[in-house]
Amino acid sequence: MSAKTAEIKTDKEAVHNQNIEAFNKWAASYDGSFLGKLALGVQKRILPYLKDADFDSLLDIACGTGVLLKEVEDRFAKTNQTIKLAGIDLSPRMLDIAKRTLGEEVDLREGEADGLPWQAKSFDVVTCTNAFHHFPEPAAVLSEVKRVLTPGGLFIIEDIWLPPFFRQIANLFLPLSPEGDVRIYSRGELVSMLSITGFMDIKWQRLFIYGGITTATRPRE
Ligand SMILES: C[S@@+](CC[C@H](N)C(=O)[O-])C[C@H]1O[C@@H](n2cnc3c(N)ncnc32)[C@H](O)[C@@H]1O
Repeated sequence: MSAKTAEIKTDKEAVHNQNIEAFNKWAASYDGSFLGKLALGVQKRILPYLKDADFDSLLDIACGTGVLLKEVEDRFAKTNQTIKLAGIDLSPRMLDIAKRTLGEEVDLREGEADGLPWQAKSFDVVTCTNAFHHFPEPAAVLSEVKRVLTPGGLFIIEDIWLPPFFRQIANLFLPLSPEGDVRIYSRGELVSMLSITGFMDIKWQRLFIYGGITTATRPRE
């Protein structure tokens, strides 16, 4: 690892630029790629959590090509016309595809998960799939999610998870990736970060041998 590469991962702007470059290149083939299909498979695992949630608005952060939003639209918004859907992503090319798939009804914006361009208490549910390991400032993202959630609102994170030994090895090499990967978190790290941010009812569930779903609620006022 060169000194330059090691520095890059501590620099938020550089990590964001790596993400933009990597996902702009990948956008056209993402949904059909092995990883895109894997992402779709695990994304669907969060739908049962939504069935039990009473929600009129949902924001998907790092929404990519909008596949999760499309699933939510097909399963929930068509029967409840009042549901407001929104998404945000750093990569304009990923968003182009999301816009083509979802149309103008969905509020899609280019931007950073650690600076959400919506007012406080705007969404009943916030989701984030296959992306939390890309965020250079995860604590800032969690604060933003808490800010935009309505009191009692639900946050669902689905992301890569690995058993301790493999995670430690992966985290040694992740900073070398040119794709803006930052860190794979343990269950304890995620629970602790959410708890410090002020979330409650934090639950974590393992997904196969390589993923985890974490749910947390913004306390009611
Ligand atoms: C592996 S893709 C996942 C896309 C989608 N959520 C899914 O599950 O298929 C990661 C996405 O995160 C976006 N991303 C990375 N860092 C981001 C940030 N700080 N703010 C917003 N989007 C970000 C990338 O542009 C990319 O579209």
